[in-house]
Amino acid sequence: MLYDKHKAEIDAILAKYPSKRSALLPMLYIAQDEYGRLDRDSIGEVAEILDLPPTDVYEVAGFYTLFYNEEVGKIVLDVCDDVPCCFCGAEELVADLENRLGVKAGHTTNDKLFTLRRVKCIAACDQAPVLQANLEFHNKVTPDKVDTLLAELRSEIESGKPISISGRFAEH
Ligand code: FES
Repeated sequence: MLYDKHKAEIDAILAKYPSKRSALLPMLYIAQDEYGRLDRDSIGEVAEILDLPPTDVYEVAGFYTLFYNEEVGKIVLDVCDDVPCCFCGAEELVADLENRLGVKAGHTTNDKLFTLRRVKCIAACDQAPVLQANLEFHNKVTPDKVDTLLAELRSEIESGKPISISGRFAEH
């Protein structure tokens, strides 16, 4: 169960807020990282921890595009395919990633390591073409850099370091 497994972190988060409801977003990050998505069961667990009706948790989880209701891989690759990035090779980048990963954009690799997605402008147009790997920016990613990037990401996964698809460790 989520609380048993992450008791120290959850208690520390709850202690920061006067009301449990205020801890909803960080609690959803933990649940999403634990289960790879937010489904009925994980939402139910969060609701129970926060003493909220599950509907209140659904409302928030459903509002943000970075909460996933379908399981994603350990690394979510979001490639910007908006106009400025396309002028700088985003389509070639997507095609190259699809080839190397063996999945079309919008899907997860069979080994459940990578989910490849197309996204619209992520506000780094001057660094085009751009992608985010678990919300971390990688700029000017031309196809010749893809091998190195994927190798680095694989070694990060293999290192056993905690990985967050939710940006949970971003401020540490
Ligand atoms: S168009 Fe790609 S980051 Fe803005």
